[in-house]
Amino acid sequence: MPGLFDPVRLGALDLRNRIVMAPMTRSRADEADRPTDLHVDYYAQRADAGLIVSEGIHPSIEGKGYPRTPGIYDDSQRVAWNKVTDAVHARGGSIVAQLMHVGRIAAEANRPAGTDVIAPSAIQANAKLWTATGMSGTMVPRALETSEIPGVIEAYASAAARSIAAGFDGVELHCTSGYLPAQFMATGTNRRTDGYGGSAANRVRFVVETLEALAARIGADRVGFRICPGNPFNDLHDEDPAETHGTLLDAIDGLGLAYCHLIAMEVPQGLDHRALAAAHWRGPLILNESIDQAKAQALLSEGAADAISFGRPFIANPDLVERFRNGYPLADFDPMLIYAEGARGYTDYPAYSPAD
Ligand SMILES: Cc1cc2nc3c(=O)[nH]c(=O)nc-3n(C[C@H](O)[C@H](O)[C@H](O)COP(=O)(O)O)c2cc1C
Repeated sequence: MPGLFDPVRLGALDLRNRIVMAPMTRSRADEADRPTDLHVDYYAQRADAGLIVSEGIHPSIEGKGYPRTPGIYDDSQRVAWNKVTDAVHARGGSIVAQLMHVGRIAAEANRPAGTDVIAPSAIQANAKLWTATGMSGTMVPRALETSEIPGVIEAYASAAARSIAAGFDGVELHCTSGYLPAQFMATGTNRRTDGYGGSAANRVRFVVETLEALAARIGADRVGFRICPGNPFNDLHDEDPAETHGTLLDAIDGLGLAYCHLIAMEVPQGLDHRALAAAHWRGPLILNESIDQAKAQALLSEGAADAISFGRPFIANPDLVERFRNGYPLADFDPMLIYAEGARGYTDYPAYSPAD
């Protein structure tokens, strides 16, 4: 019966325990979309995790959606990320880069100068986005021409190659939360009449081709992906998310990808995420969303997952693995500092000490 502290292999990724740090945007990158020395400390502090999934990293400048988020589309970013991955590896950890392209989730204040807002269809999101000056409405996206899609996929593939060159152990394709891959998959955001719209097989084509391109560039066993069927975040609506995601999983099941990272949360259409994955996915599975240590252990014992990811618990508990191992209490984070600048609320949460 596998335990949380037992090692596991997901594709080519060797995890020393089954505790994964979930991806979390923290908005501390510099003006050139590079991680800083603060990132080096932040990720190194959390390197006891079996695997760290980085914050969302935009594969191209067009993919950026929020203030101070990092990219991996140029060589100065590669050099900066290399310091992060070196620090994690020096502590015996593993880290993958989450590739996140926001597509239509764009606010004027967050937009890099001169970039197009692109999406499968020209449908504006009914959402409010966080910007440095408060919440803001969205922009109307431009529908991608069919002939442009290979270029968008290529940007992901070269970002994956650059991630490996930066020392990451792999990449995770962000396919939920209303961002570009999810926009292609959902009926509410995809009204295309070419081979990327209409049937479920067509709507998942962008994600399938992107995963194939990532696999071809860096090896399938270093590529994971993240889904949450039915997630309505960022004004996403799909008429039949179970059919769409079943079609996706069937199409990629044979690629030999490293893992599926499934957010099994309650969604308006009331899906049984674990049953969906059991029916359509035979590869390694990481489960997420509001899971505590006891539930994590129960899920592993039942064989429901190979590893469990934790997001919010890692914010104020850099030593989460040690706290779990020793039964130490967990600290709470300050919500006002999640996306703030600087070290406060980022790298200054201490490891547990008995005097706490
Ligand atoms: C501050 C914050 C930032 C997040 N940023 C991302 C992100 O960049 N990419 C992503 O896939 N999920 C992101 N998430 C979602 C988390 O990865 C995770 O799914 C969520 O927090 C639920 O897990 P938990 O209950 O263990 O916190 C973010 C969550 C939080 C709290």
